[in-house]
Amino acid sequence: MTAETVKPLVILGTGYTGRLVYNKGTARGRIVLATSRAPHHHLGFVPPERRIRFDLADRTTWRNLPLACDLLWCFPAEPLGLVQEFAATINMTVNRLVVLGSTSAYQTTPSRNYPPAWVDETAPLDRSKSRVRGEEWLRTTCQAIVLRVAGIYGHGRNPLHWIKQGRVGPSRKYVNLIHVEDLTNICLAVLEQGVPGEAYNVSDGTPRTWQDICHLAREQFGVQPIVEVGDESIGKRIDNGKLLSLLAQAGASLLHTDLLQSLEQIFAAETSSEATP
Ligand SMILES: NC(=O)c1ccc[n+]([C@@H]2O[C@H](COP(=O)([O-])OP(=O)(O)OC[C@H]3O[C@@H](n4cnc5c(N)ncnc54)[C@H](OP(=O)(O)O)[C@@H]3O)[C@@H](O)[C@H]2O)c1
Repeated sequence: MTAETVKPLVILGTGYTGRLVYNKGTARGRIVLATSRAPHHHLGFVPPERRIRFDLADRTTWRNLPLACDLLWCFPAEPLGLVQEFAATINMTVNRLVVLGSTSAYQTTPSRNYPPAWVDETAPLDRSKSRVRGEEWLRTTCQAIVLRVAGIYGHGRNPLHWIKQGRVGPSRKYVNLIHVEDLTNICLAVLEQGVPGEAYNVSDGTPRTWQDICHLAREQFGVQPIVEVGDESIGKRIDNGKLLSLLAQAGASLLHTDLLQSLEQIFAAETSSEATP
């Protein structure tokens, strides 16, 4: 891609992931614009000329977006009617569009098999979910690239805290995770090299049971779960092979495949920010 062909990147919904993409994209020399429903409150880290007020539910804000841009959609793409109206209004087919979906898009079929089967991008989707209908419409009609993202963790979203708070406990349920730093790199790689109209699973490639993560939390960090047994469901095992092929083509790879090492980094970063006056 030549410098002339690179359009500004607009992050629709600059929350946990969007903020990192803004910072990294800008550091790499891209023109990145960030949206929020309340830019003055939520986008203090963005220079005023790069902030955009945008709310999918408020049609008057749609015209605030630049005419030619790439879009990274970082909140649930629903309801379908509004998504369709928005896409028609801004003529979305001319943009490169990446939508962050969720691995919860896949149907959960009750099965006696344990561990659960691997889930790739061809697995059946749960179209009873409003966001799945929105994402699939954008993918099939507007050639959006949909990322089906596993549980996002990183600094400020620490699985050890989820265990401490009793949000999860030592169950046999499988969970799939992705570190926000990897997700950020993936968003930028997919914006450049992803195949329009395709879906990609985004996870670190190692599904783990909550039992195993709770064991690691107790042994390595002294964190005791406060619930004895968590969720009884078996969860899913997300296959990230398609994503890894794309990253290899882009000359990139995942940085956070060792959960213990990544949790240690988060722990160290949290400890040092607590110590800073
Ligand atoms: N968290 C997870 O573990 C996880 C797992 C799988 C998939 N995902 C999906 O991945 C995406 C990114 O996740 P995240 O945790 O980084 O998101 P996030 O922190 O919730 O950020 C998304 C931002 O979008 C803005 N937003 C929400 N509704 C909007 C609307 N109707 N119109 C315009 N802007 C709106 C909000 O910012 P303002 O309030 O500033 O407008 C919000 O902070 C989301 O779609 C999420 O559902 C998350």
